[in-house]
Amino acid sequence: MASDAGIDIESLLSEARSFAPPDDFVAHANVHGRAEYDALCKRAADDPEAFWGECARNLDWFAPFSKVLDWQFPFAKWFIGGKINAAYNCLDRHLKGPRRNKAAIIWEGEPGDSRVLTYQMLADEVARAANALKELGVKDGDRVAIYMPLVPEAAIAMLACARIGAIHSVVFGGFSAEALADRIIDAEAKVCITADGGWRRGAHVDLKANVDEALAKCPSVEKTLVVRRVGSDIKMKSGRDVWWHEIVPRQSAQCAAAELDSTHPLYTLYTSGTTGKPKGVLHTIGGYLTHTLMTMKWVFDLKDDDIYWCTADIGWVTGHSYTVYGPLAAGATVLMYEGAPNHPENDRFWRLIEKYRVSIFYTAPTAIRTFIKWGDSWVKKHDLSSLRLLGSVGEPINPEAWMWYRKTIGADRCPIVDTWWQTETGGIMISPVPGAIPTKPGSATRPLPGVAAEVVTREGKPVEAGQGGMLVVRRPWPGMLSTIFRDPDRYKSSYFSQIEGCYFTGDGARRDADGYFWIMGRVDDVINVSGHRLGTMEIESALVSHATVAEAACVGRPDEMKGQAVVAFVTLEGGRHGDDKLKEELRKHVVKEIGALARPEEIRFTEALPKTRSGKIMRRLLRQIASGDETLGDTSTLEDLSVLARLRDDEE
Ligand code: PRX
Repeated sequence: MASDAGIDIESLLSEARSFAPPDDFVAHANVHGRAEYDALCKRAADDPEAFWGECARNLDWFAPFSKVLDWQFPFAKWFIGGKINAAYNCLDRHLKGPRRNKAAIIWEGEPGDSRVLTYQMLADEVARAANALKELGVKDGDRVAIYMPLVPEAAIAMLACARIGAIHSVVFGGFSAEALADRIIDAEAKVCITADGGWRRGAHVDLKANVDEALAKCPSVEKTLVVRRVGSDIKMKSGRDVWWHEIVPRQSAQCAAAELDSTHPLYTLYTSGTTGKPKGVLHTIGGYLTHTLMTMKWVFDLKDDDIYWCTADIGWVTGHSYTVYGPLAAGATVLMYEGAPNHPENDRFWRLIEKYRVSIFYTAPTAIRTFIKWGDSWVKKHDLSSLRLLGSVGEPINPEAWMWYRKTIGADRCPIVDTWWQTETGGIMISPVPGAIPTKPGSATRPLPGVAAEVVTREGKPVEAGQGGMLVVRRPWPGMLSTIFRDPDRYKSSYFSQIEGCYFTGDGARRDADGYFWIMGRVDDVINVSGHRLGTMEIESALVSHATVAEAACVGRPDEMKGQAVVAFVTLEGGRHGDDKLKEELRKHVVKEIGALARPEEIRFTEALPKTRSGKIMRRLLRQIASGDETLGDTSTLEDLSVLARLRDDEE
């Protein structure tokens, strides 16, 4: 059976290869060996609150918490009574010892320019930026939108917000002006931090132009703060737009970190769900930071002399948790790279690893499959012997890609951590602990200590080994979202209404006889393109907003490179007939409404969409058609899909 994620779960389950942690890795690992791992898991299971309380004490608190967890189903509050600041934990506490002069961020721009910021330098910049935000009128609890290229100022902006208790809402720079406006409006952001542009494949991405277009619809935004990155000629609106270089450098490098409640919001990040507009996932300080810090130690086995590189853009949760908060809270040296992996040539990533002696490398299966396509010769040109650990995130990794990653990048020497988690979980939930758990290609292996993940039936009953089911989490965990921004009902209905008493992830999974988890991908109407979540509803709304479109239904089709590709079934107004020109126009329209990542790979015009008697679109049928399921015969010429629907009406 091919799962929604486009991987063949049957063959995954018969995957017999297993790789024990290498002895020399185990000898130096933060969690070394199975016995230590088992003891950790047992402690966490026996008394989760005591366990997480102990973990949280790895952070610096202005005032200690008096209670670990307040759980009023389904709302969790972590580390009650504790006073804390995320920026303080990522910066100030490292200034007291030898990390003060350690590189916090090593950054390289796409054109090849580079900067190094030590912890002291980063702390000074964050304080200046925080003072600048104050001058612009930002206060505790205000929302700040961040729409930036991957430059150090993006991380500085996030930490500056965190320092003064403002809530940042980062929007991926690849989203369109429309998508940016939707997110700014929902968050009611007061300030928007952006740049004149960013570099991507040798060209400028005109971020400021998108901001200008978006802000025409966003009355809440009083000021924008603009980083000069590419030096392009942009319009600055007088009274609203302020250059970063004109306001930040003249600020004091002293800015006391606000002493905030552990449950104070840290950020919102919008993510796609089954219905409606993207949801503002809200994370709070104490729990989130505890989870991201601990996973840096357990999963990435971080040591003080590592050079750690997570390739995710800051616009996604991976960039939040594992480029900024987790690694900096742990005192890591983080590599940040602004641009594309194939600029100027296909070996840019390997060049970077060699140049900066990267030891921990974390990327996505889509990227890995692309590297395979480009060929091993690009890799072979470079000395990658500094690597000691590899990671994967965002979508299921097929065993072939996993094996290539292990052999060609990791020289059969580096353990691979396939990390399963979500925007909502805040941090990694299921992953090998590399010095303790043997890995199997394609499996995220086991839940981390303290994570009560299970595979259950729709009725919430545990399934037997080898059986597929719904991936749920039974108990709260520190990194879990606290709610959907200003919409607690949506929080309840999105995550706690499907399976009684549990958080439902939206993913299907199986567990094998060793208790290893095999993630099968989404079971809802979310499409995972290149590790990025898109709600079918969002793309459908974008299509329907075009004057010619009467109705649209989008599904994911397995795609060798991207994991899934978007296929749109479209019916046109007034029985109009579509042609290639219109297809192209509709594609452009979706890009304008959402961004290039939502661009449908294929558009099929149809006179009707298959629906059940109650009017529900039969997505499963469309998925089968989109992926060319042979049992249906050739449906490519079938214009009236309702014919097919009538035949299969009973199934849905
Ligand atoms: O379907 C799972 C998939 O990505 C979804 C979460 O997407 P997002 O919130 O954008 O966060 C991505 C980065 C954490 C999940 O519901 N997913 C993520 N990691 C994996 C994965 N699927 C399989 N294996 C993974 N390692």
